[in-house]
Amino acid sequence: MEIKRIGVIGAGLMGGGIAQVAAQSGFQVNLMDVEERFLTKGIATIEKNLKRKVDKGVLQADESAAIRGRITTCLSLAELAQNVDMTIEAVIENLDLKKKVYRELDTIAAPNVIFASNTSALSITEMAGATNRPDKFIGMHFFNPVPVMKLVELIRGYGTSDETVKITKDVANKMRKTAIEVLEAPGFVVNRILVPMVIEAIYVLQEGLASAAEIDEGMKLGANHPMGPLALADLVGLDTLLSVQQHLYEEFGDPKYRPPVLLKKMVRAGRLGRKSGKGFYDYS
Ligand code: CAA
Ligand code: NAD
Repeated sequence: MEIKRIGVIGAGLMGGGIAQVAAQSGFQVNLMDVEERFLTKGIATIEKNLKRKVDKGVLQADESAAIRGRITTCLSLAELAQNVDMTIEAVIENLDLKKKVYRELDTIAAPNVIFASNTSALSITEMAGATNRPDKFIGMHFFNPVPVMKLVELIRGYGTSDETVKITKDVANKMRKTAIEVLEAPGFVVNRILVPMVIEAIYVLQEGLASAAEIDEGMKLGANHPMGPLALADLVGLDTLLSVQQHLYEEFGDPKYRPPVLLKKMVRAGRLGRKSGKGFYDYS
């Protein structure tokens, strides 16, 4: 089975990036969100990214127009499910919401359509259980910013077939991403390691050991990280980070994963990082 048309569910940080990279790689893309304003924002970011490439001379104007021309948008799963070979879901990190999306999608998408979830940490098997196609269900975990980051983690659920893994790997490679295969476990591989490191930086800040800028400078200069952990938290989104850490805590039952109060407070206050304009830093 050759994948030609991809439906992307959720036009936020990740969905927009996935739609852009898929269209750049020649796939026909249908991007879906629940409100027009989210689609408008997602498409505006894609257009800005493409324009930056044209301005830099790494993309021709006609190529950019062709990429943009491969992306359509819609506001319902019913529209999304028409004419797709595969869907990649990037709605917020909430298991109940994702299961609701999959229950509906399963009833309207053709039986051979592959469902891939971009979840950061949640159970692929549990989401697949909301459908009648666990063999065609897989985790396809992209990294932020999607146009830049080269990795995709492919996560097998309990029932994921070898064929689904192979087809999804081909799609990732066509998007010029390196895919690693990972068995299902909370946070998979990269977030199991990366997120607790970022969380530790929040504990260091909470304990008043150093300022946010000093913590970030320390990890950039002392550990050669491309950006500090608190700036990275702002890039990822504090709501997403909290969901991931909470999930590690609940699944492993190990107190070493408990989320810091400071992170909870910031999320409750709507300080979600770059996407809300304020997090550990001010982006307004
Ligand atoms: N969208 C598209 N392109 C972007 C971008 C964005 N949001 N941000 C930067 N870029 C591009 C720039 O256009 C530039 O492209 P060229 O090389 O073609 O000029 C390139 O990336 C480098 O950008 P900058 O020079 O502006 O900045 P930088 O060198 O400091 O790099 C960075 C920025 C790529 C974000 C870098 O700091 C970095 O790699 N940070 C770490 C990112 C990371 O760890 N991501 C993983 C997060 S965890 C995750 O994703 C998993 C999860 O489930 C939560
Ligand atoms: P986001 O908040 O930027 O975007 C989520 C989008 O989903 C929003 O536009 C929202 O309107 C939309 N949405 C909500 N309910 C929907 C529904 N029922 N149908 C369709 N769209 C719906 O979040 P994000 O950062 O793009 O994260 C999306 C997913 O990707 C999450 O599972 C997250 O864990 C994962 N992820 C995030 C990152 C990251 O760095 N932010 C990296 C890798 C994976």
